[in-house]
Amino acid sequence: MNDVLRAIMERRSIRKYSDRPVKREDIETVLQAGLYAPTGGDAEPWHFGVLSDREMIDALDEKARAAMRASGIDRIVAMGENPKYRIFFGAPVVIMIYGEKVLRKTGTHLSALADCSAAIQNMQLAAFSLGLGTCWIGLIRYLFPADRCMAPEGYDPLYAMTLGYSAGPEAIRPRSRREGTVTWF
Ligand SMILES: Cc1cc2nc3c(=O)[nH]c(=O)nc-3n(C[C@H](O)[C@H](O)[C@H](O)COP(=O)(O)O)c2cc1C
Repeated sequence: MNDVLRAIMERRSIRKYSDRPVKREDIETVLQAGLYAPTGGDAEPWHFGVLSDREMIDALDEKARAAMRASGIDRIVAMGENPKYRIFFGAPVVIMIYGEKVLRKTGTHLSALADCSAAIQNMQLAAFSLGLGTCWIGLIRYLFPADRCMAPEGYDPLYAMTLGYSAGPEAIRPRSRREGTVTWF
């Protein structure tokens, strides 16, 4: 199996991180991989915010969990109330992903959510290739109605991604995928 396929098959969401800091050049490489994702109409409708300050990450984690507790959705409230739960799992780096709100290039259909998602997948695979763990964080969305998470003007916060060295067993569940999700016509 080549390195690209191995990264795709073996990457797992990492939910336990060590305190070991991530080198700035590795963070830059991961971001660079995101920037090379395909985008509809070549629009690159994204912006990335890098958090590597422990206090800043923990403050955002606390705010996000408070928003989960206030969501009114039983499962989400229960997660937010779990004293052991941290939305960023103690990761030393969190990358915020922001999508551009409006058409920048005339005639181009802006598909920021798809484009940003492609960037996140690229970043996850690049991080894996560097021996780093990641987790895509969609639950941060409960915070967005109240807090734009430092999104620049003209952009919406969409997702977060944790980044750091794994502190636990990487495979948290067996590597298997649902059957019957492909039809050959
Ligand atoms: C859009 C999206 C949102 C996600 N949000 C979260 C999240 O908020 N918290 C979390 O722990 N995992 C989150 N995940 C990770 C998934 O749970 C994970 O990718 C899935 O269970 C498959 O496991 P794997 O990544 O180890 O292959 C998210 C994944 C995606 C694609």
